[in-house]
This record gives sequence, structure tokens and C-alpha cells, in this order.
Amino acid sequence: MRIDILTLFPGMFRGPFEESIIKRAVDAGVVEIHVHDIRQWAKGRHKVADDYPYGGGPGMVLKPEPVFAAAEAVLELAPERGPIILLTPIGRRFGHGVALELARGQRLLLLCGHYEGVDARIHEHLATDEISIGDYVLSGGELPAMVVVDAVVRQLPGALGCSESAEQESFADTLLESPHYTRPPEFRGWEVPEVLLSGHHSEVDKWRRRRNLLLTAQRRPDLLERIALSKEDREWLEEQGVG
Ligand code: ADE
Repeated sequence: MRIDILTLFPGMFRGPFEESIIKRAVDAGVVEIHVHDIRQWAKGRHKVADDYPYGGGPGMVLKPEPVFAAAEAVLELAPERGPIILLTPIGRRFGHGVALELARGQRLLLLCGHYEGVDARIHEHLATDEISIGDYVLSGGELPAMVVVDAVVRQLPGALGCSESAEQESFADTLLESPHYTRPPEFRGWEVPEVLLSGHHSEVDKWRRRRNLLLTAQRRPDLLERIALSKEDREWLEEQGVG
């Protein structure tokens, strides 16, 4: 997959993309990520990319010319095509399903809005999709773009060390993920559940499933409604008083 990001603040991406799973995925050739400074396409000596809003009001608005020019130039850098996604609090809500949908494609172009907003013509005539990462307003689309990239990249085949781990994560089958333990077996008197030390894989699987069910029933009962529970699952949940 190829991901291009258009931003006024390319420096913000340096740390997060040079560490951990994203860096490993880039090094392994699973994904190419290119961050571009929109100002490169801004005209004039001062490379101004924003301007006052028509009709008045607070803040500055991202101008259409440099953003269209940047997107059009960057699209030409590779033959693959994919959605042009504007990160904005008025977009559709990002979640695991959207991450899977985007991970199935070959290419993403992410546009980070900034300041008080972006010119409406970018929304209407350039973006093919608009994504929000939640009901809060951030200072710009950079952090949301990082969230989207992280969630998408970890779904790409070969991005994670163990091929199964993306599937086992929370939300993949709509159950929340059970707690994890590592050594030592006892820490400050708190012990690791016996079954995890037993070496009985089928017992461990059963224990994990039940913990997943319980956690989901307690914290996100809305998710449980979307998944087909077995009779045994239901009976067990009832016994726990959460069925
Ligand atoms: N830009 C500012 N806030 C945002 C949000 N919540 N999601 C996506 N882009 C944004």
C-alpha cells in the first residue's frame, strides 16, 4: 500500500512514523508512507497557504489552490488510485470497520485540515471521503491522520510479527480482548490465573473466550448484540449475572 499525507506540519509525523510497528512495516516494504508539505505548492514569496474567511469570523481557512495542486501532483507520483480522505470533525466516524475497508485498497491520500477549517471547495470537489476520529475538535487533521495510518497499517498482511495477532485484537470479531499477563507469575501478591500457566491450550482458549465475553458484556453490551453467541456463551453469561 502507498499512503501520501498532505499537511502544513510535516514535522509532526517524524516521531510516530519512525518507531515501532509503522517503522517495521515500512522497513519490511508492506507500506510506503510519504508526507508532503502543502506549502511547497503555495504561491508567492511567503508561501501562504491560508487566508481570512469570507464573511468574517475567527481564524484562518486553508486555501484551495495549494491543496488541489498538492493533491494533483502527489497523485501522479504513483499509478495506484484510492480515496482522497479529508480528516475533519464533520466526517464519517472512524472505527475498525473503516480501517479494514481502507486496508483492502492499494493507496490512500490523507488531507490534514488545519486552523479553523478548509475551503469548502476542498470538501466538495477534491475529497472523496471525509473521516472524523471522534466527537471532539482537534487543532488539525495531523493526529487523526496518524490514528488512521496506524489502524490501517496494522491490518496489512505482514505488518505485525505474528500473522494472527491483528485478527485476535479487540473489535475484529466485536468482542473486547481479554487481559494479558506476562512474567512474573506473582507480582506484589497478585497472581496470574492458574489456567494460563497450565499449558492446556484448549482450556486457555476457553478461559480467554469467557473473559472476552464478560468484559464485552460489562463494558460494551452494544457490541455483543452484533455477534452470534453460542448457547453455551449465553448460559455462561447468565450465570455471571450479565446475560
Ligand atoms: N480535525 C479536527 N478534529 C478532528 C477530528 N475529531 N477528526 C478528524 N479530523 C479532525
